[in-house]
Amino acid sequence: MDDSKKADIAVIGLAVMGQNLILNMNDHGFKVIAFNRTTAKVDEFLEGPAKGTDVIGAHTIEEMISQLKSPRRVMLMVKAGQPVDETIDKLIDHLEPGDIIIDGGNTLFTDTERRIARLKPAGILYIGTGISGGEEGARNGPAIMPGGDEKAWAAVSEIFQSIAARGINDQPCCDWIGSGGVGNYVKTVHNGIEYGDMQLISEAYALLKSLGLTNAEMSQKFNDWNNGPLDSYLIQITAEILGYKDKDGEYVVDKILDSAGQKGTGKWTVISASDLAQPISVIAEALFARFTSSFTEERQEAQKIYGTRQIASPSDKEFLIDNIGKALYASKIISYTQGYMLLKAAAQEYNWQINYARVAGIWTGGCIIRSRFLGDIQHAYAKNPDLENLLLDDFFVNAVKENEQAWRSSVSYAVNSGIAVPGLSSALSFFDSYRTDRLPANLIQAQRDYFGAHTYERIDKPRSQYFHTNWTGEGGITTSSSYNA
Ligand code: 6PG
Repeated sequence: MDDSKKADIAVIGLAVMGQNLILNMNDHGFKVIAFNRTTAKVDEFLEGPAKGTDVIGAHTIEEMISQLKSPRRVMLMVKAGQPVDETIDKLIDHLEPGDIIIDGGNTLFTDTERRIARLKPAGILYIGTGISGGEEGARNGPAIMPGGDEKAWAAVSEIFQSIAARGINDQPCCDWIGSGGVGNYVKTVHNGIEYGDMQLISEAYALLKSLGLTNAEMSQKFNDWNNGPLDSYLIQITAEILGYKDKDGEYVVDKILDSAGQKGTGKWTVISASDLAQPISVIAEALFARFTSSFTEERQEAQKIYGTRQIASPSDKEFLIDNIGKALYASKIISYTQGYMLLKAAAQEYNWQINYARVAGIWTGGCIIRSRFLGDIQHAYAKNPDLENLLLDDFFVNAVKENEQAWRSSVSYAVNSGIAVPGLSSALSFFDSYRTDRLPANLIQAQRDYFGAHTYERIDKPRSQYFHTNWTGEGGITTSSSYNA
């Protein structure tokens, strides 16, 4: 076949994300060849959603490869983990040096790095890309976060940037993130932040509900908030969800079991944060809150034993409702601050050059956490690419100060009423720790030294000099070595 008639890209995996990405590419004038391990799905797709498009199908890897332009671009939209490796195994002998494999799943970044190393000797270029926006995003414009072999970027940038959403200043929500597994890492942190946002929103919902607001009123409140600094996709869908009724006229949200699932990316974010010693407390609490929610029967038993606390009656309900929105906003600032701290630590550890302003810009459209607020983050990093911490940027200093009192009153109301707000309260505790020049960690160091001779640094001596006290007179002068894991 003449190369000009061949397909621009192949997509393997025809689940909903794969199908929608193919249709999106087709809309943008790219010729796509679709393949799936269960080949009946190819026919169903061609006869169904892809009918009348230029999409072509393949029933074998050989057929797929023979119809692809050079360098061949093969995108995997299969389940992350083993299925990606199995697909690579099948592809590898059919590809030539310079051909490109792109994994578009929620992949652990170290898996991408392992695959890059595996494919290097064969000269096959590899990209691991985060894609966010769910099925609707995949169809109409997702946020795309590619990383891997930089040599491959020029060959895929046109396709990816055309199909991506447009964000702030009409910029494509896709750009080269960097080498190795950084594209997947950035997507993982995006998902961690997504967990944080969802938890904070659900806590605000619990607080509004405790004040006796109906679903319709709460839906209206989230709509109002969506017209202010909280303006975001997740707030908007929350308003829609709260107002959504079943055919029987009942609200669907009230019928959903309160046990939250998770597919692993939030957990990876928290594991990585522990590895890099970064206090991403809001994301961690969001993850743990999902775990706690799944103890459904045990929670029901516990409620019988401990009862329900009396809701503290606020002197001014409208004022408290307004405060809850402000607490949500302030906590969101903390959560994103922590997410960016993690990105920064990872960049340092793994030698990545992350453009923080651009990452925020990519996240302003297409993805699940898209928001007006990310434009403010982009602005902060564009102004100062070396910004130490978002909480030190003028805009966010003012935003936190303006909302601090409302935040404290909302958390107090929750604590007094026995309503769990792990996200809002851990955000506030982080803020209070971060703005405190002397924490009680001196006592922790003393305890460590008391029972284990772990040594401590002193405020009256230069850093990195370690001291030990023979606290009991019996411990002697032998110390344990001083290191941080
Ligand atoms: C996105 C979403 C997407 C997916 C998550 C859900 O960016 O489009 O984050 O990746 O919905 O995997 O994650 P949990 O099932 O862990 O909540």
